[in-house]
Amino acid sequence: MKKFIVLLCILSIGCKAQNTSVQPTGLIANKAMVVSAREEASKIGVEIMKNGGNAFDAMVATELALAVAYPYAGNLGGGGFMVYRKANGETGTLDYREKAPLAATKDMFLDKEGNVIAGKSTKTPLAIGIPGTIAGVFAVHKKLGSLPMKEILKPVIELAERGVIVTQKQEERLNSYREELIKINGSNSVLSKVYKENDIIKYPTLANTLRRISKNGRDEFYKGETAKTLVAYLKEKGAIITMEDLAKYEAKWRDPITFKYKDLNIISMAPPSSGGICLAQIFKMIEPYDLSNMGHNSAAAIQVIVEAERRAYADRSFFLGDPDFVKMPLKALMDETYLKQRMSSFNLDKATLSSDIKEGKVNYNESMETTHYSIIDQFGNAISATTTLNAGYGSKYYCDALGFFLNNEMDDFSAKAGVPNMFGLVGNEANSIAPEKRMLSSMTPTIVEKNGKLFMSVGSPGGSTIITSVLQTILNVAEYNFSMQQAVNAPRFHHQWLPDLITFEPNTFDTKTFETLKGKGYLINEKTTPVIGKVDAILVLPSGALEGGADFRGDDKAAGF
Ligand code: GLY
Repeated sequence: MKKFIVLLCILSIGCKAQNTSVQPTGLIANKAMVVSAREEASKIGVEIMKNGGNAFDAMVATELALAVAYPYAGNLGGGGFMVYRKANGETGTLDYREKAPLAATKDMFLDKEGNVIAGKSTKTPLAIGIPGTIAGVFAVHKKLGSLPMKEILKPVIELAERGVIVTQKQEERLNSYREELIKINGSNSVLSKVYKENDIIKYPTLANTLRRISKNGRDEFYKGETAKTLVAYLKEKGAIITMEDLAKYEAKWRDPITFKYKDLNIISMAPPSSGGICLAQIFKMIEPYDLSNMGHNSAAAIQVIVEAERRAYADRSFFLGDPDFVKMPLKALMDETYLKQRMSSFNLDKATLSSDIKEGKVNYNESMETTHYSIIDQFGNAISATTTLNAGYGSKYYCDALGFFLNNEMDDFSAKAGVPNMFGLVGNEANSIAPEKRMLSSMTPTIVEKNGKLFMSVGSPGGSTIITSVLQTILNVAEYNFSMQQAVNAPRFHHQWLPDLITFEPNTFDTKTFETLKGKGYLINEKTTPVIGKVDAILVLPSGALEGGADFRGDDKAAGF
């Protein structure tokens, strides 16, 4: 709390955008950098680049090292998204999101009366979607990697064998989840045991799984011994994923969502993530307002951002889903005239209530716990990747024979139109469950260009708060001249249309700001005080050196050379 108050004082001095160049406060590296949720993973990614590998090789190593060092969200049993920008300016994205099994049905989480059965989409084996992570890293490696896969996986396997030191935050997390983990996996399961800070946890079965994948390639996970062991485990637990489901899984290259905000060109993730579209809508809706003069986290700036968020999340809930199943009016949703019109019902005197906001009218024919890492290499390639099990430790189902948790990503579908999911997000037909469909995500891995050059790689975990955390981090640099580390550290707030509440990080905003907002009719969430996002980012400084922004809210660390 003290940290936050000191931070608030420092930040309030720098409320207005300044023209002077800002002093970096995060780790500086001259050539290459990884920022991720665990130092072990950042260091392995950096080692790969030191050995001549590029950002894509480092992506594979970092992603899988997080599965070892950060089982809370890093995974083999989940999925994710990656946005990249090559040194030559070419951009693209990879979707390795989980899919619904072939046996999934639209009403699978409803009772006979058509009501959502509490916990069925989060805490049962039916919550598990078909994992995409291994398909994802192999797709990246095949198209963009440069080192042999065996060389990339070697330090990850060694980490699993050597073990990972328990941090204080990890000890606390394991303590709070232990009862649930024991209930599902028994008391002998590796993460059911009691660990104290500085203990070392070894993952020998995960090392074996990774060794088999290193030897046999991608199909080991989707068709080989690993697939057979996984399907047998899932069947025994009552899940519906089959060998056919695994064999049919494919990661997909998709065009990015690209848009301009003032002098920035922003490249982000397309559906089935809502991240890029929502980010584009919010940025475009706030662009006409002079946020820097309003002041960082001032009541007026909060109003403008919240009103844009409210409208973007209302559109999210109605229009967005898996592009392979649903036609979405993406161009219309990002149209400047539409977005200007969308904000026309807002003025600074009074809140617009969410009950008065529905999805917009657009013309078209039809229709916490994730983890992020950013990498820039010595050649100028950049990646931004966010990967998830959905909830902390996913479904909590841990396959001891293989050494990893399974996701509970099925909760990201809309089990019933208008009924909120785990993140309080409501959805509609566009995000209803269907066999082989991908559930809508909020993950927002993002790359920013300035003057045609690479400027930032940024992203965050945090479910529905991902989009607003990425937004505020970019604004903190672009509008308020913060260093990368200051931008990551700065207190954050969040609004997602429904529930109609602004949530603030605890003890970070003054009561005067709350009073001003309440006086204008804003509803403030004073009961719960969650951490909003946990951003990891890299900024390219004018000198060409890199500044890391590693979020102090977790064990996140930057490493580089
Ligand atoms: N599971 C969180 C998300 O994809 O948004």
